[in-house]
Amino acid sequence: MEKPGNLILVIFGASGDLTSRKLIPALFSLKVQKLLPEKFAILGCGRTEYSDIDFRKKMRESILSFSEEKDHDKGLIDEFTGYLSYCSVDNSNPSDFEKLKKELFARAIEIDTPPNFIFYMATPPSMYSKIAENLHKVQLAEYSSGFRRFIIEKPFGYDLESGRELNRTLHELITEDQIYRIDHYLGKETVQNVLVTRFANGIFEPLWNRNYIHRVEITSAESIGVEERGGYYDSSGALRDMVQNHLLQMVGLTAMEPPSSLGSNSIRNEVLKVLQSLQTIKEADVPGQVVRGQYTGSTIRGVCVPGYRYENGVAKDSRTETYVAIKFFINNWRWGGVPFYIRTGKRLPTRVTEIVIHFKKTPHHLFQREVGNLASNQLIIRIQPDEGILLKFDMKEPGAGFNVKNVNMDFHYRDFADIRVPSAYERLLYDVMIGDSTLFSRDDEVETAWKFVEPIQKAWANNREIKVYGYPAGTWGPSVSNDLIEGCGLTWRYPCKNLSDDGLYCEL
Ligand code: BG6
Repeated sequence: MEKPGNLILVIFGASGDLTSRKLIPALFSLKVQKLLPEKFAILGCGRTEYSDIDFRKKMRESILSFSEEKDHDKGLIDEFTGYLSYCSVDNSNPSDFEKLKKELFARAIEIDTPPNFIFYMATPPSMYSKIAENLHKVQLAEYSSGFRRFIIEKPFGYDLESGRELNRTLHELITEDQIYRIDHYLGKETVQNVLVTRFANGIFEPLWNRNYIHRVEITSAESIGVEERGGYYDSSGALRDMVQNHLLQMVGLTAMEPPSSLGSNSIRNEVLKVLQSLQTIKEADVPGQVVRGQYTGSTIRGVCVPGYRYENGVAKDSRTETYVAIKFFINNWRWGGVPFYIRTGKRLPTRVTEIVIHFKKTPHHLFQREVGNLASNQLIIRIQPDEGILLKFDMKEPGAGFNVKNVNMDFHYRDFADIRVPSAYERLLYDVMIGDSTLFSRDDEVETAWKFVEPIQKAWANNREIKVYGYPAGTWGPSVSNDLIEGCGLTWRYPCKNLSDDGLYCEL
């Protein structure tokens, strides 16, 4: 892989959690892989006052605590922390941006790099427009010489209107091709592998349509609760936090047409077409097509866990959903009539994200199936953990007669023993450095995704009759979500019916 050209990365919100837990460890991994630019610097910005030395010390600790690199080579860490400096900036104070500009150009001269700057907004979203505006005021936003790129993190707005407003404001200051909207799911190897599985193999794509596929199921389950993010989460909920972005991007990659090239717009245009083809769920249909739930207190493997309403920062009468399941259709030639089921939730029995393609059954049943085997062929793309792909199909049981047993053919990424799977942030930061925006959400994708969730948001806001179902922490969400998958013998796939004793994921 090529080394990116020389540049400086500016991180706003440098004293925050995202910087220490994700960004610095990912940048350190790029250092280990020799994928950082030859001449490179990181300028941390934040309200907290740090000296360069203190900032370096703090970032060193974050590498030691959060880096996935097993070998914490001291020399390499020293070299890495040498890239770091700090500038205290109040994001809403324009004069601080004059100071930042001086500092930035001085650093560029010091390390002898052209003024190629990446601005990472690791701040609350309410600051994005302000920071862009202040950078614009001091002429740091536009291209004169060198490039200027802006990374922003979800949520990109709160609903369709605020999402559009954010895009409008940013576009007044910078151009769309300068903006890199991070959806970290797109940085996951296995999410990118959906494209390779579909378009590098001749055997799947001919079946990948309404003629052979019965339904598609996407699950993103988390075993953790809202942890320290109750305040943010209570005003967000699972629909905004996971569905509008991560889940709909996975739907896009699963359902899209083959792109004509790997160019960033070819792929994103195809994803956009899928999002545009999602059948609108009318407000009146929300109760029948969408189930929302909220976890209640419970005991999981002997440990008491509080209900959502008892988490820090959460209102005692909160109706925010920590679980959501949706049934919908895609109105196009390939998918007409095939139901898609997606669900996500916190405090479910395990952490697992997977895409399950359920193929249609054979038209005529010749063979005797084992008792309880109603399964049809399934292709399971395991996004995490135990990344891999599993194909379920029927085989003859040895012995007399023609008894049929459902068996697995599986591939695990861990079988690539000598290949390290890079973290999502590592991949995405590298891509911004080389100017590849394929794995970032474009303005029209974000707005179209908001358009899809909008009637659900409105129905929930306007109709108090729509229930928020409680589900005990550690279970698979409200049982009514089973009603979405109607039909005899059909259920969601429960990937860990056989939880191992330590509660870890274990495949059946
Ligand atoms: C984030 C959400 O975008 O994704 C979190 O804000 C969620 O609430 C997280 O926990 C899940 O990411 P991952 O990579 O752990 O599946």
